[in-house]
Amino acid sequence: MRITMIGTGYVGLVSGACFSDFGHDVVCVDKDERKIAALHDNIMPIYEPGLAELVATNVRAGRLAFTTNLAEGVKDADAIFIAVGTPSRRGDGHADLSYVFAAAREIAENLTRPSVIVTKSTVPVGTGDEVERILAELAPQSGAKVVSNPEFLREGAAISDFKRPDRVVVGSDDEAARAVMAEIYRPLSLNQSAPVLFTGRRTAELIKYAANAFLAVKITFINEIADLCEQVGADVQEVARGIGLDNRIGRKFLNAGPGYGGSCFPKDTLALLKTADDAEVPLRIVEATVAVNDTRKRAMGRKVIKAMGGDARGKTVGVLGLTFKPDTDDMRDAPSLSVIQALQDAGATVRAYDPEGIEQARPMLKDVTFATDAYAAADGADALVIVTEWDEFRALDLKRIAAAMASPTLVDLRNIYPRDEVERAGLRVTGIGKS
Ligand code: UDX
Repeated sequence: MRITMIGTGYVGLVSGACFSDFGHDVVCVDKDERKIAALHDNIMPIYEPGLAELVATNVRAGRLAFTTNLAEGVKDADAIFIAVGTPSRRGDGHADLSYVFAAAREIAENLTRPSVIVTKSTVPVGTGDEVERILAELAPQSGAKVVSNPEFLREGAAISDFKRPDRVVVGSDDEAARAVMAEIYRPLSLNQSAPVLFTGRRTAELIKYAANAFLAVKITFINEIADLCEQVGADVQEVARGIGLDNRIGRKFLNAGPGYGGSCFPKDTLALLKTADDAEVPLRIVEATVAVNDTRKRAMGRKVIKAMGGDARGKTVGVLGLTFKPDTDDMRDAPSLSVIQALQDAGATVRAYDPEGIEQARPMLKDVTFATDAYAAADGADALVIVTEWDEFRALDLKRIAAAMASPTLVDLRNIYPRDEVERAGLRVTGIGKS
């Protein structure tokens, strides 16, 4: 199959590279000349484990190419994927679809055959109808069909999520378009590793939002149970295991922490609420989740202050981990931002370290100094806070940390260390959901 991917952001680049690895011919198109020039030199615009190697292999094999020339990319394609950004629109929280519609118009102007147009970007219900309208207006003779094919990639695990997904969702009622999509995903269905679920287009669009909202609810639920654990003398990790072993609940996404962040959950829950508002069907559980998660991030700053005895003035706090989760340099809606702001508002000085995120974090964090490693962040600090569970924080020399600190206080917002191990090293520890 000949595939064109419009947009070489996170989703477009990972999807394009993986499709080419399946054996398809893929052209990735982006307007950003510097990005395309960098990709020609195998420099990735994002940090994602394994991506540079995957791109290099498939470029060398002649299956993957990059261009700024949309017309060239669109000319012979069997399928054209739209994988451009859909950020929250400033002011009202609706998904900003201007990039999607601009891509649709450009595709329409350059279509020469009845390609299948696939929206991979996360788009509100009904967006496929609008894309179809644009195509019908600008390229009525093309016979192009519009399909929804949402992605479920986690940053840091995007390649394995793409190649070994739990399912693939394809939304279209058109038989020919379904056949093209079935062919594109044949490598996944061949070894029966992933069911390809064919649905209506609006249903596919909603599946994406419902999945992300459900996961956000699940995380927020266990976070509230964690707060209760702290008050009643229970342990949230054991509660999570105890409920998660029930297959109806499932073990994943029950890790209590500082609240969810990232490029998807915050944006997609808000966009879903807007869709629900417009449809006059309030989603109260999702509304509560968004509100609880927002207040939680800042509350984590107060938790650190409490661990320091209730006063942050004149104190120094070392922060380990800034990105919203490990194995990414993404700072979007990262809990660290609110935790640090709350600490600074209370008069603390913050020194932070992150393995990959410092460059992205620097412009977002005022008056924070950056350390070269975890030990430098701990040096002379009155508290050390683990905000993101990078692997390199799992094997710290805790005795060395304790000796370096002015006051040996660890706040482990990801529960990565057992209490007895930390205490043996001479540190006081506050975790999440433990009394
Ligand atoms: C998410 C979805 O998982 C993915 O399917 C979708 O396509 C995009 O959004 P991502 O945002 O990359 O992926 O990260 P994810 O691993 O889902 O984590 C999101 C946030 O939830 C992070 O801040 C993470 O720390 C938090 N989280 C996750 C928890 O606090 N506890 C958990 O148990 C799981």
